[in-house]
Amino acid sequence: MQIIIKAPQKLQGELKVPGDKSITHRALMLGALAEGITTLDDFLEADDCRSTMGCLRSLGVTIGENGKKLQLKGCNMVLQEAEAPLYAGNSGTTARLLLGILAGQPFETTIIGDQSLSNRPMRRVVEPLLQMGASITGEGDHLPLTISGGNLRPLTYTTPQASAQVKSAVLLAGLFAEGKTTVIEPAASRNHTELMLKSFGAKIEAEECRVTVEGRPVLKGLPIQVPGDISAAAFFMVAAALVPGSKVLLKNVGVNPTRSGVVEILQQMGADLELRDQRCYGEESVADIKIHGGALLSGVTIAGSMIPRLIDELPVLAVAAAAAEGRTIIRDAGELRVKESDRIQALSGELRKLGAQITETEDGMIIEGSSALRGARVDSCGDHRIAMSLAVAGLIAAGDTNIAGAEAIAISYPQFMADLRSLAIF
Ligand code: S3P
Repeated sequence: MQIIIKAPQKLQGELKVPGDKSITHRALMLGALAEGITTLDDFLEADDCRSTMGCLRSLGVTIGENGKKLQLKGCNMVLQEAEAPLYAGNSGTTARLLLGILAGQPFETTIIGDQSLSNRPMRRVVEPLLQMGASITGEGDHLPLTISGGNLRPLTYTTPQASAQVKSAVLLAGLFAEGKTTVIEPAASRNHTELMLKSFGAKIEAEECRVTVEGRPVLKGLPIQVPGDISAAAFFMVAAALVPGSKVLLKNVGVNPTRSGVVEILQQMGADLELRDQRCYGEESVADIKIHGGALLSGVTIAGSMIPRLIDELPVLAVAAAAAEGRTIIRDAGELRVKESDRIQALSGELRKLGAQITETEDGMIIEGSSALRGARVDSCGDHRIAMSLAVAGLIAAGDTNIAGAEAIAISYPQFMADLRSLAIF
């Protein structure tokens, strides 16, 4: 599928972005393990979360849908053996977190994925789960993998990279082991799993880079209001900041500090962006975000412990950097190479076609700003966030931007083009 983006005069209006993807996956999985009923309001209805729902249904979980609301009947930690391999689609979170849960189930399950997911590294979760006592077989570092679980021992594990998926897989496996399981990270990754485990009644001790869960808890189902996804909101933050005259209010956006690096970096670049009415949905912080467009942006350095706080927003921040004055340096972001695409290569290649000046480095990019972008034919590289970032670039490019492979957007944000149209004034 191709989409064509034309530069609007400005963006204007209010938007409620879809539910947070990371939180939707976790609410589904913990709701499945809990006893009793869990409901999800404003869950993310997109391909990735459908992959998690499909896998859980194959494992015997009943999930009812009623518009924007889901209802799960929990299995009280005991899932049923699936009849066929579980298909995780394009979703790394589905595959890696489910491996953690299946490590605690006394039966064999095979997990498969699409072509992109089948090329993504899995040893990072396999390694600690083997140490806990699960048996996992397959082709080295990749899906398909077959896991057979049960009888786990607790573990204290230091992860080589900041990864919420690895941390969460170990914590979820830790639920099935008697005693305390601890994960120590080099920098703090998103903490939704630990916050939600606490809401479901597990005993959690958390410091910035160290989290401990006590095994064999009784998890109690509960109603969950899913915050809007800051990773989806980020496309409109950058779009509104870049198009002069824009005035956009993004409603109910999750602003958990482990996710909100994009707000800080855009403010540091000089964008006119403000959080309003900060409040909580359960353990998660939520705010409305107001953006006024046209302020002159300047280049920044994005590195170190900031990276996990905005890892999924780096593609759209690269677009902001291309339009800013001066140089932006992104480093310590080698993880971008093992996302849904090699995002360093994909961004450098595709944004260059629009006239941006980008140099690829091993763990990031150097972007010389102030390029006047011009429309061109570009490709999503099969990656939802690359497709939407290119659409944002198209809003400030002269002439049409033609994006091939735009069907990838449905992975996380099927309504993206409709939402963009609802704000654009030509
Ligand atoms: C996610 C964690 C991050 C992020 C991904 C979602 C999660 O991946 O990039 O989109 O929901 O836990 P890593 O854990 O690989 O850093």
